[in-house]
Amino acid sequence: MATRVLQQIIESVPTSDGAGVKLRRSLGSRRDLRWDPFLMLDEFSSDNPNDYIAGFPPHPHRGFETATYLLEGHMLHQDHLGHRGDLNTGGVQWMTAGRGIVHSEMPQQTQGRLHGFQLWINLPAREKMKPASYRDILPAEIPLVPMAKGGQVKVIAGTLILDKKPTPGPILGLTTDPLYLDIQLPAGGNFSHPIDNDYNAFIYPYAGEIAIGPGNERRRVQAHNVGLLSPGDLIDVGAEGDARFLLLAGRPLKEPIVQHGPFVMNTREEIEQALRDFESGELTQVV
Ligand code: CO
Repeated sequence: MATRVLQQIIESVPTSDGAGVKLRRSLGSRRDLRWDPFLMLDEFSSDNPNDYIAGFPPHPHRGFETATYLLEGHMLHQDHLGHRGDLNTGGVQWMTAGRGIVHSEMPQQTQGRLHGFQLWINLPAREKMKPASYRDILPAEIPLVPMAKGGQVKVIAGTLILDKKPTPGPILGLTTDPLYLDIQLPAGGNFSHPIDNDYNAFIYPYAGEIAIGPGNERRRVQAHNVGLLSPGDLIDVGAEGDARFLLLAGRPLKEPIVQHGPFVMNTREEIEQALRDFESGELTQVV
């Protein structure tokens, strides 16, 4: 087996989005910092309401999916199709914008900590114009698998394989076949996982520090940075202190990307069409 090594670190940069929500953006902080099929990763984490209270008022999307994972806090999602999603601590919302959605994501707390992630995942060209949909995944629907030597794994998407035993998560069967794991390791702990050699994979430690790769090729990644991994069919991660990190992998689409803010298409013409459709209301026509 070829164990993946650390190929590149993408440091997160402080920024704000929506109506002024403070966050750290790593993937997607520049147009050349994507990792097909993953377009963007934001982490929001604050116990100061001024950093999050204004939320994300109504805004459009077309051409990709968003996965919002709340570690702590309470947000309400509403969209033009009449969906209401109540996102609480430990919950996930998987939203497929497809041909178009206008939605809002608003904090439902006036104090306390809001901490979570929003990941953007591209759709293949042939699925970019499918009807919008979304799934609210309750914390109880997300398998929590303890590891024999300490630590635990939450399976948000794809299938965890631990000691050759598969544990499927709630999101399966997408073209990009994402694996989305949230892993907690105690000091000295280790996590190994088989992976398709051709899939793009990255890790994102959000507490503590981790080390990637085999033996003398092991390299550290500090919290709030993305570590892009080389090709290979095994991922091996160690924790020197207590650590928590996301592990993402997916099938690359290898298609051209033209992005204009919340629209992610394949050509300039399709972006211009998206802008026209948003202006005219066509983007949110129910089909
Ligand atoms: Co949005």
